Amino acid sequence: MFCFFSLVLLFGAIGLSYAENVIVPGAPWTDTSGNSIQAHGGGILKVGSTFYWFGEDKAANSALFSAVSCYTSTDLVNWSRQNNALTPISGTMISNSNIVERPKVIFNQKNSEYVMWFHSDTSNYGAAEVGVATAKSPCGPYTYKASWKPLGADSRDMGLFLDGELHSNAYLLYASDNNVDFKIASLDSNYYNVTGVVSEITNVNLEAPGVIKRNGVYWLFASHTSGWAPNPNKYFSSNSISGPWSAEADLAPESTRTYYSQNNYDLLLPNQNAIYMGDRWHSALLGDSRYMWLPLDFSSGSPKILQADVWSVDPNSGSWTIASGTTYEAENGTRGGNSTLITNSGFSGGHGVGYLGNGGTVTLNNVQGNGVSGGQWVAVYAANGDSSYRTMTISVNGGSAIVIQQPDTGSASNPISVPVKLNLKSGSNTILFAAGQSNYAADLDKIIVYTQS
Ligand SMILES: *[C@@H]1O[C@H](CO)[C@@H](O)[C@H](O)[C@H]1NC(C)=O
Ligand SMILES: *[C@@H]1O[C@H](CO)[C@@H](O)[C@H](O)[C@H]1NC(C)=O
Ligand SMILES: *[C@@H]1O[C@H](CO)[C@@H](O)[C@H](O)[C@H]1NC(C)=O
Ligand SMILES: *[C@@H]1O[C@H](CO)[C@@H](O)[C@H](O)[C@H]1NC(C)=O
Repeated sequence: MFCFFSLVLLFGAIGLSYAENVIVPGAPWTDTSGNSIQAHGGGILKVGSTFYWFGEDKAANSALFSAVSCYTSTDLVNWSRQNNALTPISGTMISNSNIVERPKVIFNQKNSEYVMWFHSDTSNYGAAEVGVATAKSPCGPYTYKASWKPLGADSRDMGLFLDGELHSNAYLLYASDNNVDFKIASLDSNYYNVTGVVSEITNVNLEAPGVIKRNGVYWLFASHTSGWAPNPNKYFSSNSISGPWSAEADLAPESTRTYYSQNNYDLLLPNQNAIYMGDRWHSALLGDSRYMWLPLDFSSGSPKILQADVWSVDPNSGSWTIASGTTYEAENGTRGGNSTLITNSGFSGGHGVGYLGNGGTVTLNNVQGNGVSGGQWVAVYAANGDSSYRTMTISVNGGSAIVIQQPDTGSASNPISVPVKLNLKSGSNTILFAAGQSNYAADLDKIIVYTQS
């Protein structure tokens, strides 16, 4: 009996540690069972007060199809994995040697049916088709119908847009004609097929599209085409889904390449602000690609992604809170080995520390912690001018090192933030960076320590 209760208490304690309170873009996200959330290139469907998140399960670190996952949440932070919505069928276009990407689900009121559309392709992306599957409940499992080229033309990255909620017109948003032309096509009343192109932006090389409609205006979000590498994502606006669309404009400062992310879905909130939902792809380790959900603020009249290391949103009101933390500049730390002081106007305070790793270290002293159990979020701002990720070890108060992944930042002058949860004791802490590693880490600009956990 005693043992039994101990076990219950133990599991209870573990269960609690999987609860999340804040959105931390770029952190490893876990579901309510403590497993890595595998829902890349995803889309959101809201049914009643429940959000369903569909995405690509890339746990096998392969681009090939393994499953379309389905997660549920009522708070957009605690996500529970449900049954897989779609799984491979050998001998079809959705076999495990083909590509199924960017699944999006909308509800068809007429047939009381959930309809999933996805990018359906061969492993070399040569087929360029859309696929459709249907189900009677949100997570399905879905019954695969077909894959084909809409109106006989290519379709690669795609999204769906439902104009209104009930008895609505629905549209396919897709990169067509070898990704050169971007098209919007209307769906039939079953949402099984397209009926005709209603808008086309030619010679534009857009992909990763999403559309929201707010106060009668349509906003189209998309990236340009640069493979898994990020680029500055754009927005366009129009008073009609058929266009004409405004000239493209930036969603975020260009040098950040959309905070190293690519759009996958844009969720309108009740207060007419939105959430930009992006993927921070890690092409060498696809299953470790991170989710970059950020506030998409319309208060200036046009959309702008707000930089936020740690934030929260109330899905019922749409109001959000962006946390502020305490900054510690790398140049204020104690350099060890071959590390050097960097002078670069792209770094905050005009300085940072380079040649970290391979014997080069920096120690930040007197970092104030709150001692909360489970740790607190720390954003590590660093620049990596390579064309692939670097890694950096971090050790707190002499403890064992943890390793963070540091994306290539496009230039050695563009620090971006990577969050990590650190166990800081209450009061003063010493944090050692890049010790004991035989590769170079990114150049450290600063860290920001948040009190949230
Ligand atoms: C996540 O779930 C936990 C446990 O139910 C809860 O305490 C917490 O408030 C939830 N987070 C949010 C953001 O609602
Ligand atoms: C979609 O409609 C076209 C005609 O516009 C037709 O040729 C094609 O077979 C249809 N595809 C499916 C999967 O029903
Ligand atoms: C840098 O160090 C100085 C004193 O050494 C301190 O006053 C200042 O707060 C530090 N600033 C940051 C951002 O670390
Ligand atoms: C510093 O670099 C030199 C050569 O560039 C190397 O021989 C030396 O071992 C390095 N020092 C450390 C502490 O790694």
